[in-house]
Amino acid sequence: MSRAVSFSSYGTPEVLEVIDVPEVHPGEGQVRVAVRSAGLNPFDVKVRHGVLPKLILPSGQGSEFAGVIDEVGADAGEWQVGDEVLGWIGRGAQAEHVVVSASSIARKPAALDWTIAGGIGLVGNTAKRATASLSLGGRDTVLVTGAAGGVGLLSAQLARRAGATVVGTASERNHEFLRGLGITPVAYGPGMSDRLREAAPQGFTAALDNVGGESIEAALALGIPPQRINTIADHAAAEKYGLGSVGGGGKTAEELAELATLVASGELVLPVRASYPLDEVRTAYEDLETGHGLGKIVLSLGA
Ligand SMILES: NC(=O)c1ccc[n+]([C@@H]2O[C@H](COP(=O)([O-])OP(=O)(O)OC[C@H]3O[C@@H](n4cnc5c(N)ncnc54)[C@H](OP(=O)(O)O)[C@@H]3O)[C@@H](O)[C@H]2O)c1
Repeated sequence: MSRAVSFSSYGTPEVLEVIDVPEVHPGEGQVRVAVRSAGLNPFDVKVRHGVLPKLILPSGQGSEFAGVIDEVGADAGEWQVGDEVLGWIGRGAQAEHVVVSASSIARKPAALDWTIAGGIGLVGNTAKRATASLSLGGRDTVLVTGAAGGVGLLSAQLARRAGATVVGTASERNHEFLRGLGITPVAYGPGMSDRLREAAPQGFTAALDNVGGESIEAALALGIPPQRINTIADHAAAEKYGLGSVGGGGKTAEELAELATLVASGELVLPVRASYPLDEVRTAYEDLETGHGLGKIVLSLGA
C-alpha cells in the first residue's frame, strides 16, 4: 500500500484525509515517482470546492511534485530508476507515489533543494507563459499584482529579466523582500491606484494580474491597454474587457527544466514559507487559504 491525500466530498480542508491506497504502476510512456515534496496551490482549493473542474469523487489532490523515479514503464524515453525529477499532474501529486507521463517531468538539478523543487511544476510554467505572452522589454513598466505569491514572485522576476521596470502589489510585510529583487512594492487596498501612479510617474505599459477584481479595475484605470493586461485569476474580467488569459495550459517539460535551473542557481528566487508533513495537510491548506504570505507552501514526504 501507499499513502495519499484524498477527499470524498467537496468542502473546506476538513474533508481532506490521508488514506492507504493500492500501489500504482506506470503504463506505457509513464514513470512512477516516489514523491519527496508536493506544492499547494489555490487551484487545488477551487477543485476541492467543486468550482473547476467537476470531479468523480473520491479524488486525490495536488498538481506539482518532486521526487525520485522508482519504476519506469515501456517507452518512457530517457528516464531511469533513481533519476531525481520535478513535474506536474492534473491532480493527485500529494501522495507517496505518483504515476505520470514521461513528458510531464524534468530533471531536478542537484543544487535545487527538495523542498522548493516540489513547488515549481504548476506556478513556474504559469508564470513563464503569462510573462512571455506580453513580450516584455526594456521600455516596459509592468504592474504585477499579487507579487508576493507563487506565480506573482516568479512573474515579477521574469519580467525584470526581460528588462522591464516592475511594480508589484503586496502587503507591507512583503515589501522589503520584493525590493531586494528589484521590484518596487506598493500596498494594495484603499488608495492603491494613487500609490501606483506615484510609484510609476512614467505610466504603466502592461500588467500581469494574479489577483483579479479590483486589481484589474486599477490596471484599466491606469490606462493600460486591455490587450497588454494578462490575468490568470479572473476569467470573467478577461472576457468582459478582452484581456489576455494565458496561464499554465500547454506547458512543456523543457520550460520546467529551464525554470528549475534558474531557481537552482539563485537567478530566480522562490521562497518556501512553510513545509508540512503529509499528515498535516489540513493545517497546510488552512495556512494557504488565509490568502496571504510570501512564496510557496509545500508538503514534505520521505527522507
Ligand atoms: N490560470 C492559470 O493557469 C493559473 C495557474 C496558477 C494560479 N492561478 C491563479 O492565480 C492566482 C494566484 O496564484 P498563486 O499560486 O500565486 O497564489 P498564492 O501563492 O497563494 O499567492 C497569493 C498572493 O496574493 C497576495 N494577495 C492577497 N490579496 C491580494 C490583493 N488584494 N492584492 C494583491 N495581492 C494580494 C498574497 O500576498 P500578501 O501576503 O502580500 O497579501 C499572496 O502572496 C490564484 O487565483 C490561482 O488560482 C491560475
